Amino acid sequence: MNGADSGDGFVEVIAREVEADPGNLALREDFVTLLLENDLGRAAVELKKFEAVGGDPARVRLLRARLMAARMRASTPPPLAGESRQDGGSARPPSVWDAERPAVTLADVAGLTEVKRHLDTTFLAPLRNPDLAAAFGQRPGGSLLMYGPPGCGKTFIARAIAGDLGASFLHVTLADLLSRWIGESEKAIQSVFRDARAATPCVIFFDEFDALGGRRTSGGSQSMRMLVTQLLEELDGVAGVNDGVYFLAATNRPWDIDSALRRPGRIDRTVLVLPPDAVARAAIVQGALEGKPADDVDVVAVSAATEGFSGADLSHLTTTVLQQAMVESMSRGELVPVTTDALLAAAGGVTPSTTSWFDQVAPVLEYGVDDGTFDQLRAYRVKRGMR
Ligand SMILES: Nc1ncnc2c1ncn2[C@@H]1O[C@H](COP(=O)(O)OP(=O)(O)OP(=O)(O)O)[C@@H](O)[C@H]1O
Ligand SMILES: [Mg+2]
Repeated sequence: MNGADSGDGFVEVIAREVEADPGNLALREDFVTLLLENDLGRAAVELKKFEAVGGDPARVRLLRARLMAARMRASTPPPLAGESRQDGGSARPPSVWDAERPAVTLADVAGLTEVKRHLDTTFLAPLRNPDLAAAFGQRPGGSLLMYGPPGCGKTFIARAIAGDLGASFLHVTLADLLSRWIGESEKAIQSVFRDARAATPCVIFFDEFDALGGRRTSGGSQSMRMLVTQLLEELDGVAGVNDGVYFLAATNRPWDIDSALRRPGRIDRTVLVLPPDAVARAAIVQGALEGKPADDVDVVAVSAATEGFSGADLSHLTTTVLQQAMVESMSRGELVPVTTDALLAAAGGVTPSTTSWFDQVAPVLEYGVDDGTFDQLRAYRVKRGMR
């Protein structure tokens, strides 16, 4: 992202707020998130501080994963959005958002069969078979809201869809929008869609969507309400045709999303992204150990011992154990491979990060309006015997 210059003022404002309220963990976390888009070196420093003052270990891990991902993004080839296209685009203002072309594909995403099938029907298949799709009156494009516990692959699958198609990928967070257009956030939304339409096929990914698409009625600032209103216009296609543009949004708090955004024609589908099942867990562990000194590991046993672990929990687990084995190898002066026992021992000391999310949703399911949106979640909780 190219927010370094335009975001500076905003970053300093938040930096001062953090300084004034050093114990405010939520603010610190937001600050790190903001820095991930602006200054990776400083993000690393602030992340260490967040951890040192008692930041939730699961959030720390996730931020660390994001920092790694951002570093990888920063070292990928230059963006596409500025490249010349057949339509010339000479009258078009320069693009604001850097589109990337993710290298991951759906094959890298373990499990999530239902989500993959859904995305395939609505977006991938019509794009691959435009004539057939047109015969059935289907246009390539659409929108989807993914929700679920943290670390289970929402962001990962969003990038993978773009990767699968060789499509451009625009990753947008509230911090991006606010930092670039203080007081003019609706222009920011316009620019996202304008850039996406100029780079089709394109996946727009709005992360932490609850922060952005929150209910217009429940408080919130004037600029937030304008953001949602503008977003509704763009999704309705008032400002331009959205063919070849897929709008994906992700959240851990779907009940906070303005219901106007979930009406048909806008974000009309909501899918639950669940923690990986046993087969997917084995695949994630296998993938993480691939090519490392870990030949004899029984991934099925590890999978059986990690029920409820998110993909991110599993990545963290394998990274930790790989590090231990590396340290031991160095001290012994010979290669000490990762063992099943080491993985099981490490897993035993971890509380899956998805547990607290499932606890948190119970009252929402019990007292919230039941319009069928959360049926999948209800069914999963019943299946897992959660009360
Ligand atoms: N199904 C999966 N297959 C393979 N790896 C996965 C899967 N799910 C998660 N991971 C691993 O966990 C990491 C974190 O996942 P991701 O960032 O997509 O989670 P998320 O659902 O977006 O979380 P959050 O709600 O906190 O944003 C991924 O980068 C990937 O390494
Ligand atoms: Mg995510």
